[in-house]
Amino acid sequence: MAFTYFFRDQQALDLIVQYALPELNRRRYINIWDAGCAMGPEPYSLAITFRENMGHFLFRNLRIHATDIADDDRFGPAIAGGLFTEVEVGRIPAGILDKYFTRDLESGGYRILAELRRAVAFQRHDLLSLQPIREELGLIVCKNVLLHFTPEQRREVVTMFHRALVLGGYFVTEQTQKLPAEAETLFRRVTPSGQLFQKMAQPT
Ligand SMILES: C[S@@+](CC[C@H](N)C(=O)[O-])C[C@H]1O[C@@H](n2cnc3c(N)ncnc32)[C@H](O)[C@@H]1O
Repeated sequence: MAFTYFFRDQQALDLIVQYALPELNRRRYINIWDAGCAMGPEPYSLAITFRENMGHFLFRNLRIHATDIADDDRFGPAIAGGLFTEVEVGRIPAGILDKYFTRDLESGGYRILAELRRAVAFQRHDLLSLQPIREELGLIVCKNVLLHFTPEQRREVVTMFHRALVLGGYFVTEQTQKLPAEAETLFRRVTPSGQLFQKMAQPT
C-alpha cells in the first residue's frame, strides 16, 4: 500500500535546502530522482520546496523524475494532473496551499500550479531492475521503500544510486533506514543525525 503524504519528512527537506540546494544551484540543469514516489505528495513537496528557494528561471531547469513500481495506472495520471482531495492537502501549511494550489470547482479538490506540474515527470520503474533511470543525477530521494527489500537488495540498490549520481551528488532516505555497511565507503554522511549522504569517489 502506497502510504504517503505531503511534507512527510520536513527534516529531510530542510537538509536538502541547507546542504544540497546551494550545490545544485550551480548547475545549469538539475535532475532529481524520487524513487518509489507513490502518487505525488512526495515529488510535489520537493518541487514546492525547491520553488520556495529558487527563482523562476532556475526552477525551469529543474526536473524531478518521479518513479514507482505501481503496476496499476493510477500514479502517472494522478501526478500529471496534480489534483488532490481536501483530505490529501490537509497537512499542507495554509500559506503554501494558497500559493501553489488552486481550487478545482468541479471536483472540490485542489490542483497544483502548472509551473510545478511541469517540473515533475512520472515513469514506471522497478528499483530491483538495478537500472538507473538516468545518470548524472544531482539528488536521489528514496524514502520508505528500501525497508521492503532484503539486505542484499538494499546493498545493490544503494550501489546503483551511487552510480547514477554525479560526484558530489546527494542521496536522502528516511530517518529510520540503516544504510548497508558498503554505503559507508560510497557516501559521506552530511550531518551526524540526518539521513542526507553525499557521493564520494569510489575507492580503487
Ligand atoms: C510507503 S510508499 C513511500 C512513498 C514515498 N516515498 C513516501 O515516503 O511518502 C512505498 C512505495 O514504494 C514503491 N515500491 C515498492 N517496491 C518498489 C520497487 N521495487 N521499485 C520501485 N518502487 C517500489 C511502492 O509501490 C510504494 O509506492
